[in-house]
Amino acid sequence: MEKMWAGRFQKTLDKKADDFNSSIRFDCRMYAQDIKGSIAHAKMLAKQGILSCADVELIIGGLEGILQDIQTGKLLFDENAEDIHMFVEAELTKRIGDAGKRLHTARSRNDQVALDIRLYLRDKAEEVVALTENLVAVVVDKAEETADVIAPAYTHLQRAQPISFGHQLMAYAMMFLRDIGRIRDAVKRMNYSPLGSCALAGTTYPTDRNYVAELLGFDGVTKNSIDGVSDRDFCVELTSAFSILMMHLSRFSEEIILWSSWEFKFVELDDAYTTGSSIMPQKKNSDMAELVRGKTGRVYGDLTALLTMLKGLPLAYNKDMQEDKEATFDALDTVILCLEVFAPMVATMKVYAENTYKAAQKGFINATDLADYLAKKGMPFRTAYKIVGEIVAECIQKDCVLDTYPLEDYQKHSELFEQDLYKEIALETCVEKRNSEGGASPKSVREQTAYVRAELQK
Ligand code: ARG
Repeated sequence: MEKMWAGRFQKTLDKKADDFNSSIRFDCRMYAQDIKGSIAHAKMLAKQGILSCADVELIIGGLEGILQDIQTGKLLFDENAEDIHMFVEAELTKRIGDAGKRLHTARSRNDQVALDIRLYLRDKAEEVVALTENLVAVVVDKAEETADVIAPAYTHLQRAQPISFGHQLMAYAMMFLRDIGRIRDAVKRMNYSPLGSCALAGTTYPTDRNYVAELLGFDGVTKNSIDGVSDRDFCVELTSAFSILMMHLSRFSEEIILWSSWEFKFVELDDAYTTGSSIMPQKKNSDMAELVRGKTGRVYGDLTALLTMLKGLPLAYNKDMQEDKEATFDALDTVILCLEVFAPMVATMKVYAENTYKAAQKGFINATDLADYLAKKGMPFRTAYKIVGEIVAECIQKDCVLDTYPLEDYQKHSELFEQDLYKEIALETCVEKRNSEGGASPKSVREQTAYVRAELQK
Protein backbone atom coordinates (compact mmCIF):
# COMPACT_ATOMS: atom_id res chain seq x y z
CA MET A 1 0.00 0.00 0.00
CA GLU A 2 1.40 3.41 -0.92
CA LYS A 3 2.15 5.64 2.04
CA MET A 4 0.13 8.85 2.47
CA TRP A 5 3.40 10.70 2.59
CA ALA A 6 5.05 8.95 -0.41
CA GLY A 7 5.27 12.19 -2.43
CA ARG A 8 8.07 13.53 -0.24
CA PHE A 9 10.26 10.42 -0.62
CA GLN A 10 12.40 8.87 -3.37
CA LYS A 11 12.48 5.37 -1.91
CA THR A 12 9.92 3.14 -0.17
CA LEU A 13 10.28 2.23 3.48
CA ASP A 14 12.34 -0.86 4.33
CA LYS A 15 10.00 -3.77 5.17
CA LYS A 16 11.38 -4.35 8.67
CA ALA A 17 11.32 -0.62 9.39
CA ASP A 18 7.76 -0.47 8.13
CA ASP A 19 6.66 -3.26 10.50
CA PHE A 20 8.61 -1.67 13.31
CA ASN A 21 6.88 1.65 12.73
CA SER A 22 3.37 0.25 12.46
CA SER A 23 1.01 0.32 15.42
CA ILE A 24 -2.10 -1.20 13.86
CA ARG A 25 -1.56 -4.47 15.78
CA PHE A 26 -2.38 -2.72 19.04
CA ASP A 27 -4.18 0.49 18.15
CA CYS A 28 -6.83 -1.29 16.04
CA ARG A 29 -8.78 -1.77 19.26
CA MET A 30 -9.59 1.96 19.15
CA TYR A 31 -11.39 1.67 15.81
CA ALA A 32 -14.83 2.62 17.18
CA GLN A 33 -13.43 5.67 18.98
CA ASP A 34 -11.44 6.69 15.89
CA ILE A 35 -14.57 6.55 13.74
CA LYS A 36 -16.72 8.32 16.33
CA GLY A 37 -14.13 11.10 16.56
CA SER A 38 -13.97 11.43 12.79
CA ILE A 39 -17.74 11.68 12.52
CA ALA A 40 -17.79 14.49 15.09
CA HIS A 41 -14.92 16.23 13.29
CA ALA A 42 -16.74 15.95 9.94
CA LYS A 43 -19.96 17.35 11.43
CA MET A 44 -18.02 20.32 12.73
CA LEU A 45 -16.36 20.89 9.33
CA ALA A 46 -19.83 21.03 7.74
CA LYS A 47 -21.28 23.31 10.41
CA GLN A 48 -18.40 25.73 9.98
CA GLY A 49 -18.68 25.66 6.19
CA ILE A 50 -15.19 24.22 5.87
CA LEU A 51 -16.49 21.20 3.94
CA SER A 52 -19.70 20.95 1.93
CA CYS A 53 -22.70 19.20 3.46
CA ALA A 54 -22.68 16.77 0.52
CA ASP A 55 -19.10 15.71 1.23
CA VAL A 56 -19.78 15.36 4.93
CA GLU A 57 -22.85 13.25 4.30
CA LEU A 58 -20.71 10.92 2.19
CA ILE A 59 -18.02 10.87 4.87
CA ILE A 60 -20.44 10.02 7.68
CA GLY A 61 -22.18 7.33 5.63
CA GLY A 62 -18.81 5.85 4.69
CA LEU A 63 -17.53 5.87 8.25
CA GLU A 64 -20.71 4.26 9.58
CA GLY A 65 -20.37 1.55 6.96
CA ILE A 66 -16.77 0.90 7.96
CA LEU A 67 -17.76 0.70 11.64
CA GLN A 68 -20.47 -1.81 10.87
CA ASP A 69 -18.23 -3.89 8.64
CA ILE A 70 -15.50 -4.06 11.28
CA GLN A 71 -18.04 -5.00 13.94
CA THR A 72 -19.54 -7.76 11.83
CA GLY A 73 -16.15 -9.08 10.77
CA LYS A 74 -16.68 -8.16 7.13
CA LEU A 75 -13.77 -5.76 7.11
CA LEU A 76 -10.47 -6.99 8.53
CA PHE A 77 -7.64 -4.73 9.64
CA ASP A 78 -4.86 -4.45 7.11
CA GLU A 79 -1.62 -5.38 8.85
CA ASN A 80 0.29 -3.28 6.35
CA ALA A 81 -1.48 -0.10 7.46
CA GLU A 82 0.64 2.23 9.55
CA ASP A 83 -1.99 2.66 12.22
CA ILE A 84 -5.75 2.62 12.81
CA HIS A 85 -6.10 6.25 11.73
CA MET A 86 -4.44 5.66 8.36
CA PHE A 87 -6.39 2.44 7.91
CA VAL A 88 -9.80 4.05 8.42
CA GLU A 89 -8.95 7.03 6.22
CA ALA A 90 -7.62 4.84 3.39
CA GLU A 91 -10.66 2.56 3.60
CA LEU A 92 -12.97 5.57 3.55
CA THR A 93 -11.29 6.99 0.46
CA LYS A 94 -11.49 3.58 -1.17
CA ARG A 95 -15.24 3.62 -0.56
CA ILE A 96 -16.24 7.24 -1.25
CA GLY A 97 -13.40 8.74 -3.31
CA ASP A 98 -12.29 12.37 -2.99
CA ALA A 99 -14.63 13.28 -0.11
CA GLY A 100 -12.66 10.78 1.99
CA LYS A 101 -9.48 12.70 1.28
CA ARG A 102 -11.08 15.86 2.71
CA LEU A 103 -11.76 14.41 6.17
CA HIS A 104 -8.29 15.20 7.48
CA THR A 105 -8.78 18.95 6.90
CA ALA A 106 -7.91 20.92 10.07
CA ARG A 107 -6.76 17.79 11.86
CA SER A 108 -3.56 15.83 12.38
CA ARG A 109 -2.96 12.31 13.56
CA ASN A 110 -1.37 13.93 16.58
CA ASP A 111 -4.62 15.37 17.91
CA GLN A 112 -6.54 12.43 16.47
CA VAL A 113 -4.61 9.83 18.44
CA ALA A 114 -4.71 11.98 21.59
CA LEU A 115 -8.49 12.07 21.17
CA ASP A 116 -8.89 8.36 20.46
CA ILE A 117 -6.96 7.23 23.52
CA ARG A 118 -8.98 9.51 25.76
CA LEU A 119 -12.26 8.23 24.33
CA TYR A 120 -11.12 4.62 24.60
CA LEU A 121 -9.80 4.93 28.14
CA ARG A 122 -12.92 6.77 29.26
CA ASP A 123 -15.06 3.80 28.20
CA LYS A 124 -12.69 1.23 29.65
CA ALA A 125 -12.18 3.06 32.93
CA GLU A 126 -15.94 2.80 33.48
CA GLU A 127 -15.60 -0.96 33.05
CA VAL A 128 -12.83 -1.11 35.65
CA VAL A 129 -14.92 0.99 38.04
CA ALA A 130 -17.91 -1.33 37.59
CA LEU A 131 -15.76 -4.42 38.22
CA THR A 132 -14.21 -2.82 41.30
CA GLU A 133 -17.66 -1.86 42.61
CA ASN A 134 -18.70 -5.46 42.16
CA LEU A 135 -15.65 -6.60 44.12
CA VAL A 136 -16.45 -4.15 46.92
CA ALA A 137 -20.00 -5.52 47.08
CA VAL A 138 -18.62 -9.07 47.30
CA VAL A 139 -16.22 -8.09 50.10
CA VAL A 140 -19.01 -6.31 51.98
CA ASP A 141 -21.23 -9.41 51.78
CA LYS A 142 -18.38 -11.60 53.07
CA ALA A 143 -17.69 -9.13 55.88
CA GLU A 144 -21.31 -9.17 56.97
CA GLU A 145 -21.29 -12.96 56.87
CA THR A 146 -18.21 -13.03 59.11
CA ALA A 147 -18.93 -10.04 61.37
CA ASP A 148 -19.31 -12.35 64.38
CA VAL A 149 -16.32 -14.54 63.57
CA ILE A 150 -13.49 -13.92 66.02
CA ALA A 151 -10.00 -13.95 64.54
CA PRO A 152 -6.52 -12.80 65.44
CA ALA A 153 -5.18 -9.70 63.74
CA TYR A 154 -1.48 -9.33 63.17
CA THR A 155 1.30 -6.81 63.21
CA HIS A 156 4.74 -7.99 62.04
CA LEU A 157 2.82 -11.19 61.22
CA GLN A 158 2.74 -11.82 64.97
CA ARG A 159 -0.61 -12.25 66.66
CA ALA A 160 -1.59 -8.83 67.94
CA GLN A 161 -5.23 -8.31 68.96
CA PRO A 162 -8.54 -10.09 68.48
CA ILE A 163 -10.90 -8.71 65.85
CA SER A 164 -14.02 -9.55 63.94
CA PHE A 165 -12.86 -11.36 60.79
CA GLY A 166 -15.16 -9.08 58.80
CA HIS A 167 -13.19 -6.10 60.07
CA GLN A 168 -10.09 -7.21 58.22
CA LEU A 169 -12.15 -7.76 55.07
CA MET A 170 -13.62 -4.28 55.37
CA ALA A 171 -10.11 -2.83 55.37
CA TYR A 172 -9.89 -4.05 51.78
CA ALA A 173 -13.32 -2.64 50.94
CA MET A 174 -12.02 0.80 52.02
CA MET A 175 -8.94 0.44 49.80
CA PHE A 176 -11.03 -0.51 46.78
CA LEU A 177 -13.38 2.42 47.40
CA ARG A 178 -10.38 4.75 47.22
CA ASP A 179 -9.30 3.01 44.01
CA ILE A 180 -12.65 3.79 42.46
CA GLY A 181 -12.25 7.43 43.52
CA ARG A 182 -8.76 7.59 42.01
CA ILE A 183 -9.92 6.20 38.67
CA ARG A 184 -12.87 8.61 38.58
CA ASP A 185 -10.56 11.54 39.40
CA ALA A 186 -8.22 10.59 36.57
CA VAL A 187 -11.12 10.32 34.14
CA LYS A 188 -12.40 13.73 35.21
CA ARG A 189 -9.04 15.34 34.45
CA MET A 190 -8.74 13.44 31.18
CA ASN A 191 -12.17 14.40 29.89
CA TYR A 192 -11.15 17.38 27.71
CA SER A 193 -11.00 17.22 23.95
CA PRO A 194 -7.60 17.78 22.31
CA LEU A 195 -9.10 17.67 18.81
CA GLY A 196 -8.37 20.86 16.91
CA SER A 197 -4.87 21.14 18.36
CA CYS A 198 -3.92 19.70 14.95
CA ALA A 199 -0.23 18.87 14.51
CA LEU A 200 0.76 21.12 17.44
CA ALA A 201 -0.12 24.71 16.61
CA GLY A 202 -3.85 24.74 15.97
CA THR A 203 -5.12 25.81 12.57
CA THR A 204 -6.06 28.74 10.38
CA TYR A 205 -9.45 27.18 9.59
CA PRO A 206 -12.44 28.57 11.52
CA THR A 207 -12.97 25.39 13.55
CA ASP A 208 -15.35 25.02 16.49
CA ARG A 209 -13.54 22.81 18.97
CA ASN A 210 -16.20 23.14 21.63
CA TYR A 211 -18.83 21.77 19.28
CA VAL A 212 -16.72 18.63 18.70
CA ALA A 213 -16.13 18.33 22.45
CA GLU A 214 -19.83 18.56 23.11
CA LEU A 215 -20.69 15.95 20.48
CA LEU A 216 -18.20 13.56 22.07
CA GLY A 217 -19.31 14.15 25.67
CA PHE A 218 -16.22 16.00 26.88
CA ASP A 219 -16.34 18.60 29.65
CA GLY A 220 -14.49 21.10 27.47
CA VAL A 221 -11.41 21.48 25.27
CA THR A 222 -7.71 21.46 26.11
CA LYS A 223 -6.43 25.03 26.29
CA ASN A 224 -2.99 24.81 24.70
CA SER A 225 -2.48 23.08 21.38
CA ILE A 226 1.06 21.88 22.19
CA ASP A 227 -0.14 20.42 25.48
CA GLY A 228 -3.18 18.99 23.70
CA VAL A 229 -1.07 16.75 21.49
CA SER A 230 1.82 15.96 23.82
CA ASP A 231 0.01 15.32 27.09
CA ARG A 232 -0.13 11.69 28.17
CA ASP A 233 -0.65 12.40 31.87
CA PHE A 234 -3.93 10.55 31.69
CA CYS A 235 -2.18 7.33 30.65
CA VAL A 236 0.20 7.72 33.56
CA GLU A 237 -2.55 8.65 36.01
CA LEU A 238 -4.79 5.76 35.07
CA THR A 239 -1.95 3.25 35.03
CA SER A 240 -0.88 4.61 38.39
CA ALA A 241 -4.42 4.18 39.76
CA PHE A 242 -4.40 0.65 38.32
CA SER A 243 -1.04 -0.02 39.96
CA ILE A 244 -2.39 0.99 43.36
CA LEU A 245 -5.49 -1.13 42.79
CA MET A 246 -3.22 -4.07 41.88
CA MET A 247 -1.15 -3.42 45.01
CA HIS A 248 -4.34 -3.82 47.06
CA LEU A 249 -5.36 -6.95 45.18
CA SER A 250 -1.87 -8.30 45.70
CA ARG A 251 -1.88 -7.71 49.46
CA PHE A 252 -5.29 -9.34 49.69
CA SER A 253 -3.99 -12.23 47.59
CA GLU A 254 -1.03 -12.66 49.90
CA GLU A 255 -3.34 -12.94 52.90
CA ILE A 256 -5.63 -15.38 51.14
CA ILE A 257 -2.63 -17.53 50.21
CA LEU A 258 -1.44 -17.50 53.83
CA TRP A 259 -4.92 -18.10 55.23
CA SER A 260 -5.39 -21.06 52.88
CA SER A 261 -2.24 -22.81 54.08
CA TRP A 262 -2.50 -25.69 56.57
CA GLU A 263 -0.57 -23.54 59.04
CA PHE A 264 -3.52 -21.12 59.19
CA LYS A 265 -6.52 -22.82 57.56
CA PHE A 266 -8.62 -19.73 58.18
CA VAL A 267 -10.20 -20.02 54.75
CA GLU A 268 -10.66 -22.47 51.97
CA LEU A 269 -10.95 -21.41 48.35
CA ASP A 270 -13.53 -23.06 46.17
CA ASP A 271 -12.33 -25.83 43.87
CA ALA A 272 -13.30 -23.63 40.92
CA TYR A 273 -10.55 -21.16 41.89
CA THR A 274 -7.74 -23.51 42.89
CA THR A 275 -5.52 -25.99 41.11
CA GLY A 276 -3.81 -29.28 41.89
CA SER A 277 -0.26 -30.45 41.42
CA SER A 278 1.02 -32.71 38.68
CA ILE A 279 2.97 -34.81 41.20
CA MET A 280 1.69 -34.17 44.73
CA PRO A 281 -1.81 -35.66 44.96
CA GLN A 282 -2.74 -33.83 48.17
CA LYS A 283 -2.18 -30.30 46.84
CA LYS A 284 -4.72 -27.55 46.46
CA ASN A 285 -2.97 -24.40 45.37
CA SER A 286 -4.20 -20.81 45.35
CA ASP A 287 -2.98 -20.18 41.80
CA MET A 288 -5.47 -17.39 41.05
CA ALA A 289 -4.39 -15.34 44.05
CA GLU A 290 -0.73 -16.03 43.26
CA LEU A 291 -1.22 -14.92 39.65
CA VAL A 292 -2.91 -11.72 40.75
CA ARG A 293 0.06 -11.08 43.06
CA GLY A 294 2.43 -11.89 40.19
CA LYS A 295 0.65 -9.75 37.63
CA THR A 296 0.94 -6.75 39.93
CA GLY A 297 4.60 -6.56 38.98
CA ARG A 298 3.61 -6.45 35.36
CA VAL A 299 1.31 -3.45 35.87
CA TYR A 300 4.05 -1.64 37.80
CA GLY A 301 6.27 -2.38 34.80
CA ASP A 302 3.74 -0.70 32.51
CA LEU A 303 3.70 2.37 34.75
CA THR A 304 7.50 2.53 34.80
CA ALA A 305 7.59 2.13 31.01
CA LEU A 306 5.22 5.08 30.58
CA LEU A 307 7.02 7.37 33.00
CA THR A 308 10.39 6.54 31.50
CA MET A 309 9.18 6.89 27.92
CA LEU A 310 7.83 10.38 28.62
CA LYS A 311 10.53 11.82 30.84
CA GLY A 312 12.98 12.90 28.16
CA LEU A 313 10.60 13.94 25.40
CA PRO A 314 10.81 17.48 24.05
CA LEU A 315 7.50 19.01 23.00
CA ALA A 316 5.40 18.27 21.10
CA TYR A 317 4.61 14.86 19.54
CA ASN A 318 7.43 12.33 19.23
CA LYS A 319 7.07 8.81 17.89
CA ASP A 320 8.16 7.45 21.27
CA MET A 321 4.63 8.27 22.35
CA GLN A 322 3.24 5.46 20.24
CA GLU A 323 4.56 3.25 23.07
CA ASP A 324 1.90 4.74 25.39
CA LYS A 325 -0.74 2.36 24.08
CA GLU A 326 0.80 -1.06 24.65
CA ALA A 327 1.75 -0.15 28.22
CA THR A 328 -1.58 1.45 29.11
CA PHE A 329 -3.63 -1.25 27.39
CA ASP A 330 -1.64 -4.02 29.06
CA ALA A 331 -2.22 -2.46 32.49
CA LEU A 332 -5.91 -2.07 31.68
CA ASP A 333 -6.33 -5.63 30.37
CA THR A 334 -4.45 -7.06 33.34
CA VAL A 335 -6.55 -5.21 35.90
CA ILE A 336 -9.76 -6.29 34.20
CA LEU A 337 -8.61 -9.91 34.02
CA CYS A 338 -7.61 -9.93 37.69
CA LEU A 339 -10.83 -8.32 38.90
CA GLU A 340 -12.93 -10.77 36.92
CA VAL A 341 -11.34 -13.76 38.66
CA PHE A 342 -10.71 -12.23 42.06
CA ALA A 343 -14.30 -11.23 42.92
CA PRO A 344 -15.90 -14.68 42.47
CA MET A 345 -12.88 -16.25 44.20
CA VAL A 346 -13.62 -14.15 47.31
CA ALA A 347 -17.38 -14.67 46.98
CA THR A 348 -16.97 -18.46 47.09
CA MET A 349 -14.26 -18.50 49.79
CA LYS A 350 -15.25 -20.40 52.96
CA VAL A 351 -14.17 -18.96 56.31
CA TYR A 352 -13.41 -21.46 59.10
CA ALA A 353 -14.61 -19.71 62.25
CA GLU A 354 -13.41 -22.51 64.58
CA ASN A 355 -9.87 -22.17 63.25
CA THR A 356 -9.70 -18.39 63.44
CA TYR A 357 -11.08 -18.63 66.99
CA LYS A 358 -8.53 -21.26 67.97
CA ALA A 359 -5.73 -19.11 66.58
CA ALA A 360 -7.05 -16.13 68.51
CA GLN A 361 -6.83 -18.12 71.76
CA LYS A 362 -3.08 -18.36 71.39
CA GLY A 363 -0.47 -15.65 71.35
CA PHE A 364 -1.75 -13.59 74.31
CA ILE A 365 -3.72 -11.37 71.99
CA ASN A 366 -5.85 -10.18 74.93
CA ALA A 367 -2.81 -8.74 76.75
CA THR A 368 -3.69 -5.16 75.74
CA ASP A 369 -7.18 -5.70 77.14
CA LEU A 370 -5.71 -6.91 80.43
CA ALA A 371 -3.56 -3.77 80.65
CA ASP A 372 -6.65 -1.70 79.83
CA TYR A 373 -8.48 -3.52 82.67
CA LEU A 374 -5.93 -2.21 85.16
CA ALA A 375 -5.79 1.23 83.56
CA LYS A 376 -9.57 1.57 83.73
CA LYS A 377 -9.25 0.90 87.48
CA GLY A 378 -6.92 3.89 87.82
CA MET A 379 -3.44 2.45 87.23
CA PRO A 380 -1.36 4.48 84.73
CA PHE A 381 -1.37 2.59 81.41
CA ARG A 382 2.45 2.34 81.25
CA THR A 383 2.55 0.67 84.70
CA ALA A 384 -0.26 -1.69 83.73
CA TYR A 385 1.52 -2.51 80.47
CA LYS A 386 4.68 -3.44 82.38
CA ILE A 387 2.84 -5.67 84.87
CA VAL A 388 1.00 -7.51 82.11
CA GLY A 389 4.31 -8.03 80.30
CA GLU A 390 5.68 -9.74 83.40
CA ILE A 391 2.55 -11.87 83.72
CA VAL A 392 2.84 -12.94 80.06
CA ALA A 393 6.44 -14.02 80.71
CA GLU A 394 5.30 -16.09 83.72
CA CYS A 395 2.50 -17.65 81.66
CA ILE A 396 4.99 -18.69 78.98
CA GLN A 397 7.13 -20.32 81.65
CA LYS A 398 4.15 -22.11 83.20
CA ASP A 399 2.74 -23.02 79.79
CA CYS A 400 -0.61 -21.36 80.38
CA VAL A 401 -2.52 -18.40 78.92
CA LEU A 402 -3.92 -15.25 80.55
CA ASP A 403 -7.37 -16.82 80.67
CA THR A 404 -6.12 -19.78 82.78
CA TYR A 405 -3.61 -17.94 84.95
CA PRO A 406 -4.83 -18.24 88.60
CA LEU A 407 -6.34 -15.21 90.34
CA GLU A 408 -4.01 -15.50 93.37
CA ASP A 409 -1.01 -15.27 91.02
CA TYR A 410 -2.54 -12.21 89.36
CA GLN A 411 -3.06 -10.62 92.75
CA LYS A 412 0.65 -10.97 93.56
CA HIS A 413 1.16 -8.31 90.88
CA SER A 414 -1.66 -5.94 91.87
CA GLU A 415 -4.63 -5.95 94.23
CA LEU A 416 -6.66 -4.32 91.48
CA PHE A 417 -7.03 -7.77 89.90
CA GLU A 418 -10.39 -9.33 90.73
CA GLN A 419 -12.49 -12.24 89.51
CA ASP A 420 -14.13 -10.06 86.85
CA LEU A 421 -10.84 -9.85 84.92
CA TYR A 422 -11.55 -13.20 83.24
CA LYS A 423 -14.73 -11.89 81.70
CA GLU A 424 -12.96 -8.71 80.63
CA ILE A 425 -10.25 -10.58 78.74
CA ALA A 426 -12.52 -13.19 77.17
CA LEU A 427 -12.08 -12.96 73.40
CA GLU A 428 -15.78 -12.29 72.93
CA THR A 429 -15.61 -9.28 75.28
CA CYS A 430 -12.41 -7.94 73.74
CA VAL A 431 -13.92 -7.96 70.27
CA GLU A 432 -17.43 -6.87 71.22
CA LYS A 433 -16.18 -3.89 73.19
CA ARG A 434 -13.95 -2.50 70.45
CA ASN A 435 -16.70 -0.11 69.54
CA SER A 436 -14.64 3.01 68.95
CA GLU A 437 -15.40 4.49 65.55
CA GLY A 438 -13.83 2.29 62.87
CA GLY A 439 -12.97 -0.30 65.56
CA ALA A 440 -12.90 -4.09 65.24
CA SER A 441 -16.24 -5.02 66.84
CA PRO A 442 -19.07 -6.74 64.96
CA LYS A 443 -21.19 -3.63 65.51
CA SER A 444 -18.53 -1.43 63.95
CA VAL A 445 -18.19 -3.87 61.04
CA ARG A 446 -21.92 -3.54 60.40
CA GLU A 447 -21.62 0.25 60.51
CA GLN A 448 -18.79 0.03 58.00
CA THR A 449 -20.70 -2.22 55.64
CA ALA A 450 -23.68 0.16 55.77
CA TYR A 451 -21.37 3.08 55.01
CA VAL A 452 -19.71 1.31 52.07
CA ARG A 453 -23.04 0.15 50.65
CA ALA A 454 -24.24 3.78 50.73
CA GLU A 455 -21.01 4.92 49.03
CA LEU A 456 -21.59 2.39 46.26
CA GLN A 457 -25.00 3.93 45.60
CA LYS A 458 -23.47 7.38 44.96
N1 ARG B 1 0.37 5.76 15.50
C1 ARG B 1 0.76 7.02 16.02
C2 ARG B 1 0.79 6.95 17.57
O1 ARG B 1 0.20 6.10 18.09
C3 ARG B 1 -0.20 8.07 15.60
C4 ARG B 1 0.34 9.43 15.58
C5 ARG B 1 1.32 9.58 14.49
N2 ARG B 1 1.80 10.91 14.36
C6 ARG B 1 2.91 11.21 13.67
N3 ARG B 1 3.24 12.46 13.64
N4 ARG B 1 3.64 10.29 13.11
O2 ARG B 1 1.40 7.73 18.22
